[in-house]
Amino acid sequence: MARHVIRPFAEADLPAAAGLLTQRHQEHRKRHPLLPPDYEDERLALVEVTAAWESEGASGAVMVEGGQITGYLLAAPKPSPAWGPNIWVEAAGHAVRDPEHIRDLYGAAATRWVDEGRTAHYVLVPDDAELIDAWFRLAFGSQHAHAIRPVPDSPLQPPRDLVIRRAARTDIPVLAELDVVLPQHQGRSPVFSSAEVPTLEEALADWEESFDDPAYATFVAEYNDQVIGSAIGCSLDKSSAHNGLARPDNAGFLGFAAVLPSARGLGAGRALGEAVLQWSADTGYTSVVTDWRVTNLLSSRAWPRLGFRQTFHRLHRLIGY
Ligand SMILES: CC(C)(COP(=O)(O)OP(=O)(O)OC[C@H]1O[C@@H](n2cnc3c(N)ncnc32)[C@H](O)[C@@H]1OP(=O)(O)O)[C@@H](O)C(=O)NCCC(=O)NCCS
Repeated sequence: MARHVIRPFAEADLPAAAGLLTQRHQEHRKRHPLLPPDYEDERLALVEVTAAWESEGASGAVMVEGGQITGYLLAAPKPSPAWGPNIWVEAAGHAVRDPEHIRDLYGAAATRWVDEGRTAHYVLVPDDAELIDAWFRLAFGSQHAHAIRPVPDSPLQPPRDLVIRRAARTDIPVLAELDVVLPQHQGRSPVFSSAEVPTLEEALADWEESFDDPAYATFVAEYNDQVIGSAIGCSLDKSSAHNGLARPDNAGFLGFAAVLPSARGLGAGRALGEAVLQWSADTGYTSVVTDWRVTNLLSSRAWPRLGFRQTFHRLHRLIGY
């Protein structure tokens, strides 16, 4: 007799799924207490799973063992063409008692996704080694990191040969240049991001329009009286990439940083990142969140050095090859 039954996810499964999600999040918060405590409450976890279930085009599977639901998986497509013919499992889209069982759930749910032509699969997985290992053995690989750190408790000093200051309107030409530097870098090997690279004119126009927006704190780094890098801090609420269980309360966000290629390795990236950390502390945030492509050989090394610890892994699988 089969030890478990797998069947399609149904609305009546929501409360049981919320219970499983609550347990997963409780374990996750033991490692990352800065993650939002709300979802340790089953009623709030239920809101998140319900949102995943009610997303347009959502589908998934549950595992039943001895009459009890012991795992679920839910995914929905994102409309943006940037993700290809995709299906996304968000942070609230999966929880299992036994990590190995995510493979059975995916095995059942993915049939429909691929039948529908959705061959680019994404999943946001907590930094649980066993769970990540199970997803890896479904041919997923690591694409993107979500990370957090507390705000600093004492002021951080930049190196003596660098000046870090708030950006002025006169910096707009170099800010625009730096806006192009990041997507250019990520468009190349080994990131190969498909994100659009703006023209310098587009970046200039964007800065002219948005420079005075008080929601964003822009810093620049000067070396030998020349601006060589910039970074932007804002509330995490401004980011659409961090939601629900992956959106800590009262958090600042390191939303952008770039250093001109000729000036990298001088400590400007650290000093700019630390300026955003300090700004976050001064603004009254408790923590700071950032994210990076794990294939970006620069940011994936710089941000952990600044004390960011990875909370979620975005894994990716492309079917068909
Ligand atoms: C990411 C970026 C902003 C970092 O700026 P930078 O001025 O080159 O970085 P820094 O010299 O301050 O180095 C930052 C830290 O990373 C470490 N680091 C850099 N390269 C490293 C490497 N190859 N291996 C290990 N550590 C490395 C440095 O040692 C430093 O840590 P430390 O201060 O503890 O020694 C810059 O490289 C950049 O513009 N990259 C392209 C755009 C980009 O990726 N932006 C970030 C998007 S998320």
